[in-house]
Amino acid sequence: MPTADEPGPDALRRKLVAAIDDWRAELFAPVDPAVRAAMLTIPREVFVPGIPLADAYDEHSAVVTKRDAHGIAISSVSAPSIVAMMLTQLDVRPGHRVLEIGSGGYNAALLRELVGPDGRVTSADVDPDVVERARRCLAAIGCTDVEVVQADGEFGVPDGAPYDRIVVTVEAADTPPAWVAQLVDGGRLVVPLRLCGLTRSVAFDRVGRTLVSRGYELCGFVRMRGAGERRELRVSLDGDDVYLVLDDGQHADAAALRTALRRPRVERPTGVVVGPEEPYVEHLDLWLATTLRGFCLLTASERAVERGLAYPTWAGGGTPAITRGGTFAYRSWRRQAAGGAELSVLAHGPDAAELAEEFAEPHRVWGRDRRTAPPARIVVHPAGTPDAELPAGFVLDRPHTRTVISWPDAG
Ligand SMILES: C[S@@+](CC[C@H](N)C(=O)[O-])C[C@H]1O[C@@H](n2cnc3c(N)ncnc32)[C@H](O)[C@@H]1O
Repeated sequence: MPTADEPGPDALRRKLVAAIDDWRAELFAPVDPAVRAAMLTIPREVFVPGIPLADAYDEHSAVVTKRDAHGIAISSVSAPSIVAMMLTQLDVRPGHRVLEIGSGGYNAALLRELVGPDGRVTSADVDPDVVERARRCLAAIGCTDVEVVQADGEFGVPDGAPYDRIVVTVEAADTPPAWVAQLVDGGRLVVPLRLCGLTRSVAFDRVGRTLVSRGYELCGFVRMRGAGERRELRVSLDGDDVYLVLDDGQHADAAALRTALRRPRVERPTGVVVGPEEPYVEHLDLWLATTLRGFCLLTASERAVERGLAYPTWAGGGTPAITRGGTFAYRSWRRQAAGGAELSVLAHGPDAAELAEEFAEPHRVWGRDRRTAPPARIVVHPAGTPDAELPAGFVLDRPHTRTVISWPDAG
């Protein structure tokens, strides 16, 4: 029970929605008013019991509900800010039939509000514990008409198909055919899709056999398990403190790169200055991934930074990098007294100077021509589509799909 000084759930819900509004205002992307209204109604604390009420309503906190034997999070109730963003992308209308892949209960309860009495919500999770938990929490708020089923989302839920909307709330490395087949033509799929190691929540519309993007935003999710599970390759450069993450099908000369880290670093400034709150990463990183051969991510822990081993743009996260033989380069920055930072490139290895320059150049192109340009267009075609039938752009081949990422003219 909140004390007299602590706000109760109603006040916390209003505070939550106001905080999300402020965050979205920075990104010039308001939350769908229907999603705001649903968030003001659903008691999130019921879906995340056992934590302080204020934490249940922290806009940017996901609550982990299950970990694997190694301590890695495998299930969570997503952060409200991400939930609001994805539901806005999903554009749910009253009467819609919606499939949610990855359950937790909270998002399904919001969906139930959005579709109203004439709509239908099916929520699927591969994990029986999560299914049982979601059912229990939904029942606790009297939401008994959401169907929660145990199923591997890779295959959708054919029994309830077709759907007007499908929202995937677990990170996917591919878009399996069932998602397209079970979506009405013109329907929308929102999915946290891993593209060249970068995860973006992409809103797609189904157009015949293809999915055409309508927008994307940065996000992070637990990985998909089951038939669609696809792991990235981790190449250690210094134990767990510095490592590269390579996407499917990429290779690296690990021994040579480990040696390279011990060699002096070369720095190249890019001349691109970013503001403290500028949401540049969404597009810039995807731009780098689709214009550079050998793109990957470098992660360095806080400890590695303290030890002077690496200075990525943020410790603990994936910073854009490239490798070429026994040389690698990654993005760093130099903070500026006036706020903001100039992006720079650090490189190690026998060809460090050349690779640093090669990596710095697309940063400069982005800073000059693409900063305010339209975002990438992402179109997903079925695997086996001949090259001649694909639009121009960077092609990402996956077992089920050929995804083309192209950049409209800066205009
Ligand atoms: C971030 S949680 C979902 C959050 C939830 N939508 C909410 O209301 O906050 C991701 C879930 O996806 C589930 N998951 C992982 N692989 C899956 C798969 N192949 N099919 C269905 N669910 C899967 C996990 O068990 C986990 O519970």
